[in-house]
Amino acid sequence: MNKDRKLIIAGNWKMNKTVAESVALVKSLKIELANIREVDMVVCPPFTALSEVSKEVLESGIRLGAQNMSEQNYGAFTGEIAAGMLKEFSVRYVILGHSERRQYQKEGDELISKKALAAHAASLRPIVCVGETLAEREGGLMEKVLTTQVHGSLAGLTPEQMDETIIAYEPVWAIGTGRTATTSQAQEAHAFIRKLVTGIFGEAVAKRVRIQYGGSVKAGNARELMSQPDVDGALVGGASLDARSFSDIIKNSI
Ligand code: PGA
Repeated sequence: MNKDRKLIIAGNWKMNKTVAESVALVKSLKIELANIREVDMVVCPPFTALSEVSKEVLESGIRLGAQNMSEQNYGAFTGEIAAGMLKEFSVRYVILGHSERRQYQKEGDELISKKALAAHAASLRPIVCVGETLAEREGGLMEKVLTTQVHGSLAGLTPEQMDETIIAYEPVWAIGTGRTATTSQAQEAHAFIRKLVTGIFGEAVAKRVRIQYGGSVKAGNARELMSQPDVDGALVGGASLDARSFSDIIKNSI
């Protein structure tokens, strides 16, 4: 598949996998994906497995991501993890503002933008998630929601920082439901997001920024989704928990 932007496919393991299970999964991925250079490949295990998985991915094409981080650098914030702590494990990416955190931890755009700035200050690349709920889509509010989220979550970033930021479009109604956006729904939303990025950061940045699709991505639908002009990768949940299905998503996307 020939695109100007290199595809980036990330596995979000969410609250799954013990350390031993994480190591086993990444060992299998290293074998399955040994010769892949065409796609940036990222795994995001739970915090507890970052240390062991970081040792496994050394000298492989697989990069490490975290699923969240604090907007603070250190201090009395019980239960939080700072960017500097992630850096100790060679983490390169961090998922921010996932819809599950927006929903269950009530994270809002202002906090997410602070986290994105803190990530950049530590040279971590944020994967900033946006996406509408089913009620919002059915109410004709998709563009309004995406506009608010993109402007709010990326507030304060410089164009240089935006160049090192990835956006994940994840319609909430497609996450973990088996209900994927159609390719035209995905393309339409991605093009709209790119237009928003153009308005904020300029055309050159918008042309370079990578926008992942997320929501029930599987080996069977990856190729069609990735073939859309504005879809530059995937953020994969359920199907990233199994080495074969995650590898097949990557292989089918090339
Ligand atoms: P899913 O999750 O692939 O299981 O739908 C995607 C995500 O939440 O990133």
